Amino acid sequence: MTPPHQQPTGRPAPDRRGGLVAAGLPIAVVALLAAAAGPATAGTVGSSGAGDPYFVLAGNGGYNVHHYDLTLGYDPKSRHLDGRAVVTARATQRLTRFDLDLKGLKVARVTVDGVKAAFRRDGQELVITPRTAVRKDKEFRTTVTYAGTPKPVTDPDGSLDGWIPTDDGAFVAGEPQGAMTWFPANNHPKDKASYDFAVTVPDGTTAVANGVLRGKKTSHGRTTFRWRQSEPMAAYLATATVGRFKVEQYTAPGGLKVYNAVDPREASASAPVLKKLPSVLAWESKVFGPYPFHGAGAVVDRAPQAGYALETQARPLYDRAPDLSTLVHESAHQWFGDSVSLTTWKDIWLNEGFATYAEWLYDEQHGGRSAQKAFDALYASAADSDLWAFPPANPGSGARIFDTPVYARGAMALHKLRKAVGDRTFFRILRTWAGDHRDGHGTTAQFIRLSERRSGKDLDKLFHTWIGTKGKPSQP
Ligand code: ARG
Ligand code: ZN
Repeated sequence: MTPPHQQPTGRPAPDRRGGLVAAGLPIAVVALLAAAAGPATAGTVGSSGAGDPYFVLAGNGGYNVHHYDLTLGYDPKSRHLDGRAVVTARATQRLTRFDLDLKGLKVARVTVDGVKAAFRRDGQELVITPRTAVRKDKEFRTTVTYAGTPKPVTDPDGSLDGWIPTDDGAFVAGEPQGAMTWFPANNHPKDKASYDFAVTVPDGTTAVANGVLRGKKTSHGRTTFRWRQSEPMAAYLATATVGRFKVEQYTAPGGLKVYNAVDPREASASAPVLKKLPSVLAWESKVFGPYPFHGAGAVVDRAPQAGYALETQARPLYDRAPDLSTLVHESAHQWFGDSVSLTTWKDIWLNEGFATYAEWLYDEQHGGRSAQKAFDALYASAADSDLWAFPPANPGSGARIFDTPVYARGAMALHKLRKAVGDRTFFRILRTWAGDHRDGHGTTAQFIRLSERRSGKDLDKLFHTWIGTKGKPSQP
């Protein structure tokens, strides 16, 4: 559990700013672990990590997942979860053995292409040895049957992440590591896949996942909710949040299916903000390009134990009634972070800087403060402020990926880019970024290259100053 003195981290909200705790592993240990995990090797054993130095065991090597089919049952009273995951993947090398990430829970059975496979647990690694090796380039199906009481992980920054029990169900948010607390996954945004969910909960309780609701069936006092996210999704963006919710469903202009689930205790506070969701998404579609997913909506839970919101794909998850800026922020992530994914957690400013800048743009274009004013107010921060503590494009460890420089200085960098290239080019860059990398990935280097290509300017110095160095830049 999070010690009480630690602030949950995430999007810095006015009521919970400051006091962020940085408690990472010593650099030497991180480097050692990184070397041990490494990317996929030439052998026949899939590696235990995807090669991310911030979370060395996150993800695995040797295969790419195409689809997760998750069948879950949850009882909020006993906190018991039953699960069966069918993971369809393609081998990128011959595999005599490979890992999935799964933390806690008890695995009863694993099969690969219908044949019982040997397995063992090693920390967060579920190590699977199929009866016969999987051939390179072959599509194969791993079925994992498991059960138990899921426990969230505590991230290096002290925040809870994963399957977080609430008084009426569970708040299920997985950034950056928590997906593995409730299903076996290739738990790194490098590997995106489509998802089907069938979640069974006691009647009167609702289970909300990503994408579009495909059906709902009640029998013997239990209701099964079937959800589908057909566009590729990073594991950390998957949710199967459970609670007693008021549900609202409608089709927005343009045909987008909206499904909102709201804790009744948060209903009156969230109603005026949720009413704006269609217009926020319409505005963002105008500025960033077409909305990237099937399905939209929000889950508004009451989850003080989490203390942050998350841009769960197609349906952001809020720990309380959100304010309008938070709604704009999590919605903007659908383009920046969800559709265009990270390949390494170090690049997190591509998510958080962009979503924060979306808030500034929204204000500016809706009669509020201009982005320039927002920039100026931040630039006025003292030289020893946390804002300048590290370069946004190099947080240095997983403990700092949700700290102020990533969000605020990341947004400042985009504002500097806009000033340098002009509005027309800037907005074309944003749309091209979202369009070219839609349902895929993007890196900081690619974003800089795109900005230079579109503007015809050398922007090395600008990016170096605003995302690549620590300390307060001498010029605003
Ligand atoms: N991406 C979320 C946001 O919109 C923050 C998630 C924070 N997660 C955490 N484990 N602290 O800002
Ligand atoms: Zn964010």
